[in-house]
Amino acid sequence: MTASEARPLTATRQFPPGFLWGSATAAYQIEGAAAEDGRTPSIWDTFSHTPGKVFGGHTGDVAVDHYHRFRDDVRLMKELGLTAYRFSVSWSRVQPTGRGPAVQKGLDFYRALVDELLDAGIRPALTLYHWDLPQELEDAGGWPERTTAERFGEYAALVGNALGDRVDRWTTLNEPWCSAFLGYASGVHAPGRTDPVAALRAAHHLNLGHGLAVQALRAALPPRAEVGVSLNLHQVRPLTQAPGDVDAARRIDAVGNRVWLGPMLDGAYPEDLAADTARLTDWSFVRPGDTAAAHQPLDFLGVNYYTPTLVSAAGGAQPGMADGGHGGGAFSPWPAAEDVVFHQPPGARTAMGWSVDASGLYDLLMRLAREYPELPLYITENGAAYEDVVGPDGAVHDPERIAYVHSHLEAVHRAVESGADVRGYFLWSLLDNFEWAYGYEKRFGAVHVDYETQVRTPKASAHWYARVARSGELPA
Ligand code: NOJ
Repeated sequence: MTASEARPLTATRQFPPGFLWGSATAAYQIEGAAAEDGRTPSIWDTFSHTPGKVFGGHTGDVAVDHYHRFRDDVRLMKELGLTAYRFSVSWSRVQPTGRGPAVQKGLDFYRALVDELLDAGIRPALTLYHWDLPQELEDAGGWPERTTAERFGEYAALVGNALGDRVDRWTTLNEPWCSAFLGYASGVHAPGRTDPVAALRAAHHLNLGHGLAVQALRAALPPRAEVGVSLNLHQVRPLTQAPGDVDAARRIDAVGNRVWLGPMLDGAYPEDLAADTARLTDWSFVRPGDTAAAHQPLDFLGVNYYTPTLVSAAGGAQPGMADGGHGGGAFSPWPAAEDVVFHQPPGARTAMGWSVDASGLYDLLMRLAREYPELPLYITENGAAYEDVVGPDGAVHDPERIAYVHSHLEAVHRAVESGADVRGYFLWSLLDNFEWAYGYEKRFGAVHVDYETQVRTPKASAHWYARVARSGELPA
């Protein structure tokens, strides 16, 4: 009899000892203080200040003012019983032009944040790049150019040397798929370019940049430090088992997932990706030695999961799904896959329009456990946007978010029982924040933020999550 057969259906689910219970944020989405202490514009400052790019003309100029309120925010995390916190460093704050020496005040901010976390017993997990490229590097060509990868390696060394004595968990890139394909192909993210070849070049230089950053971090960090990357792997499913649909799923898996997993974890680009994209590029921007440089031993893989992706070869797409649920726009984020059709699975959806389906997370974790059995996994993002309001009782009731997180934690637990080495879960997000092209319109926080007053109100889901984090146990 297996453990799951022995368990009564009403039983609680205990997570392994030492499992990390965290929340996640990103610099541009929460910090504000966009022009303070030497910070200069990143591509997201430029993009959000360009009319028509972000809902309501919203920008990250002030965001949730975390730069000035980080001590209160860490206190909040402690009250919520969190044992880990994932945040990103704003490259423009610590190295404004993307090259050269560091700005001391920028580094001081992150040092103070990390010290506050450590004092509160919260383990910091630092992401080097969560989409906010210094504008000067974009002006020099951005991720489609090799020089950006080289600059990224230098920036990794700079941050590694400054914070390596106190941060034990590092990720290089967050969701490079979004940086490459939403940033340079569909253009719904900064820098807003719509050139599929530039997007493929960007993907390669993100892979290379990742490898150069891992090497720089290994040189700068003590051996106990863990280094990984966070990928938004698409759990792609074919609409039917017809060969055309299965091939559509393969193509999206290639340009969505294996474009990263190949170089980073296997040391080569998948051959089918080169064949699929051959009419766009011969990939001659990949120089000898690049894939070896990208292929660095990692201590963990960060998995960001929200919703599965359902595709077919032709026919019947729902309006608005041509982009696979990634921000609309007239241009496809999927180079050389224009004829792949994206479908909205039936059932519940979040305020983003994304289907709620935790089986996708289970399937994804089991695939990774099968293909990379030695690689520990963290869920570095999972969560949902809903239309939250502070009620007359002063509370925010968000039962849908509780149900969403519950079902996804159940999937994680099931994957752990089935042998996946998942070591922690970071809820996206700690606070309501700047949701990229959607501005402040979509609320992902466990903690509600009143954007006029900056008052923080933990939602019912925050209290629920705090109980799970404290007990290490998911209620039935
Ligand atoms: C992925 C990104 O990493 C994060 O910045 C974003 O807010 C969430 N997903 C929700 O869309």
